[in-house]
Amino acid sequence: MYHCAIIGAGAVGGLLASHLGQQQTVCFIDSRIAQPAQCTIKVNSLSQGKIVFELAILPDVPRCQWLIICVKAHQVDAAIQSLDLSPATNILLMVNGMGSHHQVLKHVDEHRLYLASNTHGALVNLKSSSVLSVEHTGLGKIDVGAFNKQQYPPAELASLQASLPPLHWHPDIYQALWLKLVINCCINPLTALNNCKNGELLQPNYQAKLKALCQELSQIALLDGVVLNSALLLSTVREVAFNTAENYSSMQQDISHQRHTEIDYINGYVVSLAKTHHAVCRHNVALVQQIKLLEKQYE
Ligand code: PAF
Repeated sequence: MYHCAIIGAGAVGGLLASHLGQQQTVCFIDSRIAQPAQCTIKVNSLSQGKIVFELAILPDVPRCQWLIICVKAHQVDAAIQSLDLSPATNILLMVNGMGSHHQVLKHVDEHRLYLASNTHGALVNLKSSSVLSVEHTGLGKIDVGAFNKQQYPPAELASLQASLPPLHWHPDIYQALWLKLVINCCINPLTALNNCKNGELLQPNYQAKLKALCQELSQIALLDGVVLNSALLLSTVREVAFNTAENYSSMQQDISHQRHTEIDYINGYVVSLAKTHHAVCRHNVALVQQIKLLEKQYE
């Protein structure tokens, strides 16, 4: 029996595997492979230094306490649809944006679903079929809560907490998820559209746009039952842009490598929520349209 199985051998998946693997049995899952394989993980961790170790890649989920999903939001369904998921496995969904939990709920019972918000920065240095090399670029934290807002964490959370500090339990995770959503709604499309690093958004010419976005996002969050002060949102977005000034956002990277972006689960999620409530949401609508125009050039 494994402690954790991870779907998504990318920057976040590699970072989690390297930290969890110090104390627990961990494997990657890739439903596209026919036979089990082996992979070497090399991580420059900000808290643990250089970590190198071997990890199994399995085509299906073994018996395990946790299945952690950290793929792109739009890849969740394809990543899990052919897997044999035991009803006893806890699922931890750690993706950008919101809305992809609907895809998980097609396959698992809601009381097994946990949602996480991750603020660690990580970049893939090198990836091949047998090597994954990851740089831990920003020391962050992980917030976890139950999809159904259960008050207390499951007993199995202790093993994750021991390997991945700081990891905090939230009886209501939606506040933390919304805060991360706002950060992504501001930083990701603006850096992708302007092909710039996160720190560029601190320049005076972006301040009116960021302020308007934060005001609009705080109004839509309220319709979803989440209270977020727009001035506080603006200062949080600026703080993240400052702390990750030298990074390129994931959406800037997706556009520059001509990949499908997560816009439908970031600003697109906000737009569909606004539509449900017949609310105006013009700043987010404009960003969704502009990103989709860029995607159209290569899709
Ligand atoms: O998606 C991203 O790139 C990250 O979540 C963030 C926080 C915007 C930093 O680049």
